[in-house]
This record gives sequence, C-alpha cells and structure tokens, in this order.
Amino acid sequence: MAEFLGGWKRTHTCGDLRGADKGKTVILMGWVHRRRDHGGLVFVDLRDRYGITQIVFDPKDHQQSHLVRNEWVLAIKGEVMARPEGTVNPKLGTGEIEVKCQEVKVLNSSLTPVFPIEDEVEVAEEVRLEHRYLDLRRPSMKDKIVMRHKTSTAIRSYMNNQSFLEIETPILIKNTPEGAREYVVPSRVYPGKFYVLPQSPQIFKQLSMVAGLDRYYQIARCFRDEDPRADRQPEFTQVDIEMSFIDEDDIYGLGEGIMKNVFKEVLGEDIKTPFPRITFEESMNKYGNDKPDLRFDMPMVDVTAIAAKSDFKVFKDVVSRGDAVKALNAKGCADFSRKDMEDLTAFVAKYGAKGMAWFKVKDGKLDSNIVKYFNEEVQKEILTALKGEEGDLFLFGADHIDTVNESLGQLRVEIAKKKGLIEKGPKWAFCWVVDIPMFGHDEKGRVFSMNHPFTSPKEADLALLDTDPMKAKSKGYDIVLNGFEIGGGSIRIHDMDLQSKIFKILDISPEKAEERFGFLLKALSYGAPPHGGMAFGLDRLIMLLAGTNNIREVIAFPKTAKATDLMTGSPSVIDQDLMDELHIKIELEDLS
Ligand code: AMO
Repeated sequence: MAEFLGGWKRTHTCGDLRGADKGKTVILMGWVHRRRDHGGLVFVDLRDRYGITQIVFDPKDHQQSHLVRNEWVLAIKGEVMARPEGTVNPKLGTGEIEVKCQEVKVLNSSLTPVFPIEDEVEVAEEVRLEHRYLDLRRPSMKDKIVMRHKTSTAIRSYMNNQSFLEIETPILIKNTPEGAREYVVPSRVYPGKFYVLPQSPQIFKQLSMVAGLDRYYQIARCFRDEDPRADRQPEFTQVDIEMSFIDEDDIYGLGEGIMKNVFKEVLGEDIKTPFPRITFEESMNKYGNDKPDLRFDMPMVDVTAIAAKSDFKVFKDVVSRGDAVKALNAKGCADFSRKDMEDLTAFVAKYGAKGMAWFKVKDGKLDSNIVKYFNEEVQKEILTALKGEEGDLFLFGADHIDTVNESLGQLRVEIAKKKGLIEKGPKWAFCWVVDIPMFGHDEKGRVFSMNHPFTSPKEADLALLDTDPMKAKSKGYDIVLNGFEIGGGSIRIHDMDLQSKIFKILDISPEKAEERFGFLLKALSYGAPPHGGMAFGLDRLIMLLAGTNNIREVIAFPKTAKATDLMTGSPSVIDQDLMDELHIKIELEDLS
C-alpha cells in the first residue's frame, strides 16, 4: 500500500546536497533510480528532476529496503554524511555526500519499467511514446523540456521588455483557410455547423492591430491537418508576433534580436547579426529550395544553354522540351567509386530524377562515360561554368526544373554529409529569404498564395497585379536556420480594396470572400494601420537548439508520424450519446 506524506515536507531536492551540508537532517523525496544490495547495507540512488542522491539503508533498521525496486517513490528522512574515503563520485553534483536513512516512507511502488530510465538505452520510439511519462524521466529528455522552458522564458522576457502585449486569441474559430487543411470541431448548439482550430492566429493578430494594440505576441498553439514529417506536427507552437507602423527592416531587427537573446540565454552562445538576406529566386537557383542550408556552399549552376550544344541525347531532349539542366560541383569528389555513384543515382531517384550524368575533372579535362558527346569547346564551357579544378566531380540533373531543383538540392546536402562539410562550416547559419513571389500555381494551374492571402505585394509591383500577377513579388520573408525554415511572415495588406483584389486573383469570388473573410474586410475599412509580423516555429527552433532532427524529441507529448497519440489512444471513437447530441451520424466508406 502506498503511504501518504503524513505531514513530511521535502527539505531538499535530490540535486541539492553538498559536502557543506554534512550533519544536517534532511527529507528527500524521489524515485529509486538504482538499488545495490550489499547484504550488510543497501544503497539506493534516489532521483528527481534535479539530480541523484545516494541513500544508505541499514537493513537491520529498515527491513523493507531489500524489497524496494526501481522507480518506487520514496520519502527519506536521514542525516547527511560525508562519503567514506575513496567512494566520492566526482561525476555527481551530490557525489561528496550520502544520506543515512533514519526513516522511510514508501509513497508508491512501481511496475518494472518497460525500459530502463537511462539515456544510453536504445528504445523503439513507439514504446517511448506509449509510455511518455517514463521516457520523460530520462535525463536527456528532461533536459530538452527544461531547454524548451528556458527558450520560451527568454522569448517572453525579451518581448515584454520591448512593450509587446501577450494576447490570447481564440482556439474555436471560423473556417478561414490560410493554406493548410483545418481540424474541424462540431457545434452542439448549432447542429450542422462547425468551428475549426486555428492553423495560426493570423487574422486575430491582424485584428489586434486594427484594435490599436500596436505590438502583439503570443506563444500560440496551432493546428494543421497535414501529414506529419520529421520537422512537422499536427499541433505545434508558434512565437507569433505582429506590429503596427513598421516595415520589413523592423521585423528583421526584431527577429534577429530574439534569436541573439535565445542563443545567449539558452546555449550561452553569441550569434552574429544581422543575418544575410538572400532572394527567393537566388535561393531556388543556387540551392534548389527556399530553405537553403548555408553551413556549406556548393551552389547549383544552370548549364541548360551549354547542355544544348552537346550531342548527348538526354540533355538535348530535355532542352528541346523547355526543361532545365543544372549541375553541382562536388569539390574533390573525383575519387568517388562506382558504388558511390550508384548510391547517389539511387538517392536522386527518390526525388524523381531519372538518371544522373557526371564528369570527373582529371588532368585538366573532363572524364566520364558520356564524354564523347561533348566536344572540347563544350567541355571547356562546362569546366568554366562550374569553376572546375583537378579532382572535382560534376553531377547533373536534367529534367523539369522542379525535379532538378528538388533532386539536386537534396543531393547537395547528401554530399555535404558524406564529405563532412557540415561539421567544417559554421555551427549556425541563419538567413532571411526575401522577395518571395505573391503567387504560385499548382499542377492544375490553380493560383495559390506563396505566403498567405493577407500578404502585401511590394509597392513597385502593384501594377503587375493587373497585368501579370504571377510576376508580382510580396513583402513576405522566411527565416532559415541550417536548412530549416524556422519562421516566416510578411507586411500585411491594410487596405480593403487591395485585399479584395488579391482574393479575386486567388479565384475567391466576392461572395465567397464575403462569406469567409467578410469580418476582416469590414475591419480593414475601419482605419486599419499599416502592419506586419512573423511567427517562429518554436518546436522547430528548439529542435535545432537541442541538436536533433526529430521535432517529437522536444515536445512533451507529441503525436506520432501518423498523427496518433499512442499513450492515450487518440484519435478514438466517441460515445454514441455524444454523437447524438452533436447530431452527427457516421457513414464510413469501406476503406479496405
Ligand atoms: P507559417 O505557416 O510559415 O506562417 O508558420 C510559421 C512557422 O511555423 C513553423 N511551422 C510548423 N512547425 C511544426 N509543425 C508544423 N506543422 C508547422 N507548420 C509551420 C515553421 C514556420 O516557419 N501566420 C503565419 C505567420 C505570419 O505571417 O506572421 C504563419 O503561420 O517554422
């Protein structure tokens, strides 16, 4: 039977006691981390969030000390003693002392844990997630939770010092799509009607600006019904920010200040600001994506025009279709074996590339199985374009531009990993990606907002909205760290007519715009100030601070890659009574 505290009060944590505390009578409470039964004496390492303290039981006085097992919860009253000579443990903060137990209460027993509460043990992630409360007892997991707390505390105090107001925005909101699919919540009071969960507080923070609140922030939960990835969760947290009467430079300055403060407070590291800025176009051209990893260089070079002059059929066909040929110079990689090349070809195939042409630079010339299709002139042009030197390896992508960018972009990182370039570069490579286009279009030709529909176009491009909207650039920006998009934002539209025009370009009819966003359009017509903001992905930022590539590691209770909660068994079926109250009838299609 578990005992109650019986009036005992914890005097110290298991990480507190030092040599100077010798002779004190203390009460500690915690979990049995390890028990060593030496017959004559029983040693228990008692653990809590703060550390481990060694407790010594004399079984003559404490019969039950033989019975105690790992993860039992004990309260110990005892005297702090210096450890005998030769038994001091310098690895432990409390390593100079031990507590000789005078009285013990067994506050709870425990089943044998499904995995040892230690960092060194490899445990399947599903097992850890199912027993997250045990997983979080492991020191490295606890440290990440502490780091998360430190990060949000550093951000909060920074923002508070800059006159920002922390404002909570609603979680049950109207369906106002920003881009991602929303989670839907049925209304009981209004059968057949629904709330949705916010994919971000976007509209509400803008309405806070219309309300004159001027500087808003919130550490906000966001919900997106998308397929989770290693760096994506269906529910996640943003550091959400909005300001009035500002331009892009104000946001860059603020974002850099927040990062500088976080890295100092959490890691004790000084990072260099301002961060470099790179245009969206340059990022796509050189790195194949809009979140470039700038810890190493290795840019892609567009060689379409040169490829057109070769006799290599694959290149010629690609060029005549209007597609692209780009290449990477993998410096010093000419020694890659046939097997390496096969592996890299298989690697790019995962990203849709149908093959991978290559050249090695040998004796000042190009060497390859396809070199005969390239006359000397063309070879020289390739060498010059890729700044080739002895021992370099050129790798080509020839396909639709999107496939080339995706496959070569991934290949660039893969080669950097293979050659250890990442460790050689700076530890933290931030950049702002700027001049993001207003619109993109999907395979079906449908126009979508590259940022979200409330993003302002650049003043200089306003006329393009009428003539060639796809060319218009936005006042949107992303912030990237080590190849991860850790945040993004924009200067917003504060003019109702311009907002209506953007909805029109997005093929949202005036009726639909009124139905979905009427309240926003109305608010904009009541003296909305010029405003803008951004949001950092807090989980993603902490993931990088903690040195992991798995976002689940820094979330106390995350969802799996299949959006389930293995611990509670969510999502789950709901009682029929509740379904009836909600007037919901389920007709499942046969999904088999
Ligand atoms: P955006 O959609 O770019 O912008 O989101 C901002 C940042 O949030 C993080 N993020 C995610 N993190 C984990 N899991 C996800 N599913 C996920 N989705 C996004 C990313 C991203 O950069 N309202 C705008 C911000 C603004 O304009 O002010 C917004 O939500 O790090």
